[in-house]
Amino acid sequence: MDGNGRWALARGLPRVAGHQAGYEAMRRIVDAAPGLGIRYLTLYAFSSDNWKRPAEEVATVMNLLERYLREAVEDYGIKGIRLSVIGRRDRLPLRLCAAIEAAENATAGGERLHVRIAFDYSARGEILAAAARLGGMREPTVSSFARLLVGANPRLAEVDLLIRTGGEQRLSDFLLWECAYAELYFTPVMWPDFTPQELAAAIEEFGRRERRFGGLPVSTPSPNWVEVQG
Ligand code: IPE
Ligand code: MG
Repeated sequence: MDGNGRWALARGLPRVAGHQAGYEAMRRIVDAAPGLGIRYLTLYAFSSDNWKRPAEEVATVMNLLERYLREAVEDYGIKGIRLSVIGRRDRLPLRLCAAIEAAENATAGGERLHVRIAFDYSARGEILAAAARLGGMREPTVSSFARLLVGANPRLAEVDLLIRTGGEQRLSDFLLWECAYAELYFTPVMWPDFTPQELAAAIEEFGRRERRFGGLPVSTPSPNWVEVQG
């Protein structure tokens, strides 16, 4: 969800105002997601490298997460939205950890959409932590390692579409393993301006991509077929 700061500066506002506007965008996108056929949505809210930012900005982002968790407890149950938070917890304030647990517990039954907020998240950090859990597993496979990384749900181990707003074209340590075959979509739109219509456009573009996973296009005739056709 990139571009909050630049969105604000372009309007002569402090960066934190951009995060507030970004918060509203996040609420709108999550609400629109189920209607667009999305079942799993992971939002990169705060990377482990974002600790380098000024304390005031970090505090703003944390307060927004806490507000989001509170609002989720209130209305995600009714909406069938499950919320979880991925990333490290050991550097977050205890109060925030308690709010995360409360929101996760309150929404655990949601089946329409699973939203994951990545907070104090680093894909490399998660991969290292999973590797440390390998223990006695002598020859890990892609799927057994993925279970260590993301838990029991194999759907979470494969990202279909990655969207980055704000014009940068890089992954910035987000879901590196899970994006092995993700379709990448980059847009110059700043996150606060990212609307459900923009999301629908990204999904439409995704629908036009040909996903081969290292194989050949499905329409490619096999040698046999060519022979039969003479
Ligand atoms: C993304 O917006 C939100 C967070 C990383 C918390 P940025 O804060 O990166 O916005 P820009 O890139 O400075 O515009
Ligand atoms: Mg940025």
